[in-house]
Amino acid sequence: MADPYIRFSHVFKSFGDQPVLTDVSFEVQRGEMVVVLGRSGVGKSVTLKHIMGFLKPDAGQVFVAGYEVSRMPEEELFEVRRKVTMVFQSGALFDSLTVGENVAYPLRERAARGEPISEEQIEARVEELLGLVELEGVRDLAPSDLSTGMKRAVAIARALAADPECILYDEPTTMVDPLMAVTVGDLILKLKRRSQITSVVVTHDMKLARKLADRIVFLVEGRVAFFGSAADLDSSEEPLIQGFIYLDEAPFLREGAA
Ligand SMILES: Nc1ncnc2c1ncn2[C@@H]1O[C@H](COP(=O)(O)OP(=O)(O)OP(=O)(O)O)[C@@H](O)[C@H]1O
Ligand SMILES: [Mg+2]
Repeated sequence: MADPYIRFSHVFKSFGDQPVLTDVSFEVQRGEMVVVLGRSGVGKSVTLKHIMGFLKPDAGQVFVAGYEVSRMPEEELFEVRRKVTMVFQSGALFDSLTVGENVAYPLRERAARGEPISEEQIEARVEELLGLVELEGVRDLAPSDLSTGMKRAVAIARALAADPECILYDEPTTMVDPLMAVTVGDLILKLKRRSQITSVVVTHDMKLARKLADRIVFLVEGRVAFFGSAADLDSSEEPLIQGFIYLDEAPFLREGAA
């Protein structure tokens, strides 16, 4: 069997005396979409930052795209970050640039590094990407003129502009209304279906997880409490997983539980 695109092998990470990841192991195959679920503060964003090499484990190994990123010095990590892009929890668009310039940014960077990309090609690609995320009309607006949901879509378009092999999405549907959450979820699904891109989606949204996941990693107190298909998740006896499933299926309870 082919090597997985991403592999966590017995990863431990603490901040000071606070353990965050404890013996975390899972893998993501090429072209697969893995969803990382868990409560707020459990270490989901920390997990993604290990994939990008922004954080290094205290013990264990992280492999991405054939590299051991947990060992790579910062100056070599650009190799990985060319192949793997992250859509940050905050969106993190450049406020001083227009939407179109934000999406063009990774392409301009590549042109600046000497890749043969013409200005016409950049313009055409930006148009195509904004079309893909259904935001053709907002190219010349500033990010501050957009709703949070639209900013998410722009951030996704910008991540795609780098032609990545893999995209990491950090909480793509939080802070937007339920209908926009469905729209952003549909967009991620569309991107998955039309390309062979490998993806990791971090969320605490069970509906999104069910819609997207080939496999789910469920973190409880820094440990992998479950790793498998959404269907198998339902038969997990882990109380916190049962709690997530119960609240997801009982909408009348959700308000009281929030
Ligand atoms: N650079 C850091 N220094 C110290 N502590 C950190 C650092 N990064 C994360 N932590 C801590 O690690 C824990 C996990 O953080 P993380 O951001 O991964 O949570 P999360 O699962 O993404 O939560 P949320 O769903 O709210 O985004 C938190 O307690 C956080 O305070
Ligand atoms: Mg987070």
